[in-house]
Amino acid sequence: MVADPADRPCRLVVCRGCCCGTKKKVPGVDHKAQLARLSGLEDHEGRSVPVRVSKCLDICFKANVVVVQPSSKGRASGGRPVWLGDFARDELVDELDDWIFEGGPGIAPLPAALEEHVTSKDAKKPKKAKKQKKAKKEKKGGAAEKAAKKERKARKKAEKKAGRK
Ligand code: FES
Repeated sequence: MVADPADRPCRLVVCRGCCCGTKKKVPGVDHKAQLARLSGLEDHEGRSVPVRVSKCLDICFKANVVVVQPSSKGRASGGRPVWLGDFARDELVDELDDWIFEGGPGIAPLPAALEEHVTSKDAKKPKKAKKQKKAKKEKKGGAAEKAAKKERKARKKAEKKAGRK
């Protein structure tokens, strides 16, 4: 039976790439179990929520990343894909489960617990301000030192020249 495209359930894109789903980047999480749970979600009509596993979605610093696509009804009501980052704790899967059960994007309000995880495909990696400032300072110091060395060398040269005369 072909599903009616005008009545599709919510769908998930779960990132499992170089960072998402890895113990190195997101330690202390059973990533396989998380994916299994996400793959078993159903909406209030008993439809299973299709899951597509994706390779890197280009915001690795937000690992694990999950994208919630609205259902057909949700999209018709203005719902748009919601990108969730730092999606690691089990409670977040519970919240997502509840949200999708209630209708997901465009139908049910985003649970507060998920709000702080909302991100986007255009999210910018935060700059490491302290490191950059330190590097700049060191660079400046290096340049000043170079200039002082050059000056000393020039002075010595001048003194040598003066001594010969
Ligand atoms: S591995 Fe998930 S965003 Fe890169």
